Amino acid sequence: MLVENGLVCSNGILSDDVRFMIIQAPKVVEIAQPGQFVMVKKEEGSTFLRRPFGIADVNKAEGKLLLIYRVAGKGTKELANMEPSSEISVEGPLGGGFKFAEAELAGEGKTLLIGGGVGIAPMIYTARHLAEANPENKPVFLMGVRNADELFWQEYLQDFTDSIEVTTDDGSAGRKGFAIDALPDILAKYDIKHIKICGPTIMMEGLAKMAMEKGIECQVSLEKRMACGIGVCLGCTFEGKQSGKRWKICHDGPVFPAEEVFA
Ligand SMILES: Cc1cc2nc3c(=O)[nH]c(=O)nc-3n(C[C@H](O)[C@H](O)[C@H](O)COP(=O)(O)OP(=O)(O)OC[C@H]3O[C@@H](n4cnc5c(N)ncnc54)[C@H](O)[C@@H]3O)c2cc1C
Ligand code: FES
Repeated sequence: MLVENGLVCSNGILSDDVRFMIIQAPKVVEIAQPGQFVMVKKEEGSTFLRRPFGIADVNKAEGKLLLIYRVAGKGTKELANMEPSSEISVEGPLGGGFKFAEAELAGEGKTLLIGGGVGIAPMIYTARHLAEANPENKPVFLMGVRNADELFWQEYLQDFTDSIEVTTDDGSAGRKGFAIDALPDILAKYDIKHIKICGPTIMMEGLAKMAMEKGIECQVSLEKRMACGIGVCLGCTFEGKQSGKRWKICHDGPVFPAEEVFA
């Protein structure tokens, strides 16, 4: 884990409240793994604490990091107002990221990646990782978003996926409903051996329970407000359902086996 003085390369608009930021931070990028996150803060900004964001994608050759973030409150409003060439402090990569089985990377069976809302962000780098390991057998992606204004995610995902299934809350694109409504059809169509999910807890719970019922290996990426991000403040703990252990999401996760969270 490092703290690096990054440089904002671009900071743009994707929808009414979602933004992307590309940051030059070569040291963090060099060791970043899919499913890990960073804590960022504007140098001399107004927030004391850094804010956590999933590593949406990396360009290792150029040392660049992509974040995709929803403008929620003080910290993200400040990020949204940053101009190119501003300095941004990047702490990371944090957490452990997704685990990939050897057979999965060798392309046996299919992996289903599921993202909900800004939880789609860390799944881009995850999809890239699987697609680069196995260009002949890329993952299937299921994305659940609010409406057709949030279809911009497809452009980030299309090169790394064999197919993208979309659900929208209002039916303005793809299938009307939630990601869980689309899961049975996907499981019937593909030989899914692994599922990785990041999104709101309520969404992940239904999906993970269906995966567990079918005996499909499933990992979920959890999110909780984080103060320190490095396992010190104990602000992000939960009790594992199977082990009974008190896990720190920032340090031991944010990715956990579905059974440990929802069994
Ligand atoms: C590991 C991790 C990865 C994340 N990745 C992303 C990402 O890739 N893209 C993205 O847009 N967001 C992501 N988040 C959420 C993001 O960190 C928060 O939205 C951000 O910290 C809000 O900061 P703020 O100062 O703008 O809002 P605040 O002023 O602190 O709060 C504004 C509102 O957002 C809510 N909020 C704050 N933090 C969280 C949180 N962690 N989870 C849920 N609600 C929160 C508050 O309850 C409040 O309602 C991630 C969070 C974690 C823990
Ligand atoms: S945020 Fe401090 S222990 Fe996880």
